[in-house]
Amino acid sequence: MSESKIPAPPSSAGAPRAGNPLLEVRDLQVVYGGIRAVKGIDLHIDRGELVALIGSNGAGKTTTLKALAGLVHPAGGQIRYEGGELHSIAAHRRAAMGIALVPEGRGVFARMTIAENLLMGAYSRSDKIEIATDLDRMYALFPRLAERKYQLAGTLSGGEQQMVAMARALMSRPRLLMLDEPSMGLAPLMVQKIFATIRDIAALGMSILLVEQNARLALQVAQRGYVMESGAITLSGSATELLGSDAVQRAYLGG
Ligand SMILES: Nc1ncnc2c1ncn2[C@@H]1O[C@H](COP(=O)(O)OP(=O)(O)OP(=O)(O)O)[C@@H](O)[C@H]1O
Ligand SMILES: [Mg+2]
Repeated sequence: MSESKIPAPPSSAGAPRAGNPLLEVRDLQVVYGGIRAVKGIDLHIDRGELVALIGSNGAGKTTTLKALAGLVHPAGGQIRYEGGELHSIAAHRRAAMGIALVPEGRGVFARMTIAENLLMGAYSRSDKIEIATDLDRMYALFPRLAERKYQLAGTLSGGEQQMVAMARALMSRPRLLMLDEPSMGLAPLMVQKIFATIRDIAALGMSILLVEQNARLALQVAQRGYVMESGAITLSGSATELLGSDAVQRAYLGG
């Protein structure tokens, strides 16, 4: 008799989760030299979910995103994406599989125009007509970019560069969009704009992992969230639960 026919134990430990998981991370560990930046975290994202990962400076949020994108090599743990293990899959292949990271600091190509930046996002695609359609979609989503198509990205404001970075990521037609601190360094009005767009993108069904130090904003747009401290996940729950939690209020919401 095969193992799969053995009835599942009553406890949920080790059993597949209900729901529709796109990404499942178990016991992920990342070590830099002697520093354990990520100490065995578990998290998951269901299809179509917007999940926030919040936590203070140095908690390990960026490192977690880099491990998912394949930019750092984990010391241990599993990352399952669309049912397959990512361990031995290189970053560029993960990108082609639909995992897009908008990095901290945006990483736009300063000496290229907005249009060229967006086309770079589609470099692994060959469907020219669809690419042109997606470019139009991006300009509809970010009208500010449409007005400045041929402006060098390096001359844009921080908020506009964030839009370029997001639009470039979307040009790869991701199935998992990871955003690292999209609000960082932006004026309040621009932050509102960027978050309105994140909401719009989520409403189209995109699965999103949002890393933010602005916990309130992140939990206002997310369905669920994780709180990370010193490389570990210390709390998780629905965004509403986290917004109402005393620990989150005290540590991250100034309550
Ligand atoms: N390339 C690196 N080499 C060595 N240590 C690193 C490296 N990158 C990050 N770290 C360390 O790993 C820990 C986690 O850093 P990480 O950048 O993931 O945190 P973070 O939660 O994104 O912080 P922030 O909110 O400031 O962006 C920190 O102690 C940091 O100093
Ligand atoms: Mg970071």
